[in-house]
Amino acid sequence: MACIASELYFQYNKNQPILENVNFSIPAGKYTVILGKNGCGKSTLIKVIMGLLPVSDGKVIVNNFDISTQKGIFYLRKHFGIVFQNPDNQFVSPVLEDDIRFGLDNHKISKSEQAARIEDALNQVYLQGFEKRNIATLSGGQKQRAAIAGILALEEDVLIFDEATSMLDPDGKTKMIQCIKDLRSKKRSIIMVTQNTEDAVDADYILLMAEHQVIAEGTPKEILPNIALLKKAGVQIPFPIKVYYDLKHQGIALNNCPLTNQDLFEAICNLN
Ligand SMILES: Nc1ncnc2c1ncn2[C@@H]1O[C@H](COP(=O)(O)OP(=O)(O)OP(=O)(O)O)[C@@H](O)[C@H]1O
Ligand SMILES: [Mg+2]
Repeated sequence: MACIASELYFQYNKNQPILENVNFSIPAGKYTVILGKNGCGKSTLIKVIMGLLPVSDGKVIVNNFDISTQKGIFYLRKHFGIVFQNPDNQFVSPVLEDDIRFGLDNHKISKSEQAARIEDALNQVYLQGFEKRNIATLSGGQKQRAAIAGILALEEDVLIFDEATSMLDPDGKTKMIQCIKDLRSKKRSIIMVTQNTEDAVDADYILLMAEHQVIAEGTPKEILPNIALLKKAGVQIPFPIKVYYDLKHQGIALNNCPLTNQDLFEAICNLN
């Protein structure tokens, strides 16, 4: 899925523009992170990309479909799945397999294929055997993964996670990240929304948002060492990048700006 946005404008009410002249181009088949601080407009942007909010101006083209057209909306409904920060609003049935089946019925998947799809989707999110579980009895992390299973069963190829790990404890987060990693290896297009710069370190591509705008896009190596940009966006500067600039300030130059602690360790070991 390639997604190109040009000159997007959006406002919830007349005096408060939320997106102003937003332009970007998300590559197909990649893991893209939308990074920005609290309230800068990330969720709004996602809703615009998904055709859930109408723009006041500008265009979004997804795989050559203009999403303001009927065909474009149809394409989005067929190919895009989203997991929100709080998945509770996402379930329609109390029992997990019934909930997944509801989506399959809507997508007109035959009854004979449904059981296999449900089992396979639950396996992929490490919830094997959870078919009959009441969703209200699942933990937060299990609910997030159950929501992903609902999308996987539909075999949608673009998955969007809007701060889907932010309410989880470290164990829940680790399991979710593992699920997302597994999905990456299957070459799906994944868009992950986060306020946490560390979540962007191993992305293929980053859209960096400041209030109302996408202020930069590119690979982690292109975006993250630019601390002026990170400061403008108001997001954290990762520890290894801070150390790189502190050392530089002291006259100690590492070969490359490290993005991870491991890179930093190796760069320091390689100093003469
Ligand atoms: N339904 C709405 N009506 C009016 N204003 C809204 C509505 N939803 C969001 N906003 C405002 O739009 C701005 C952007 O909100 P949005 O939820 O897109 O930010 P965000 O980057 O996703 O924030 P967070 O990191 O906290 O999830 C905020 O100022 C918010 O108060
Ligand atoms: Mg949000």
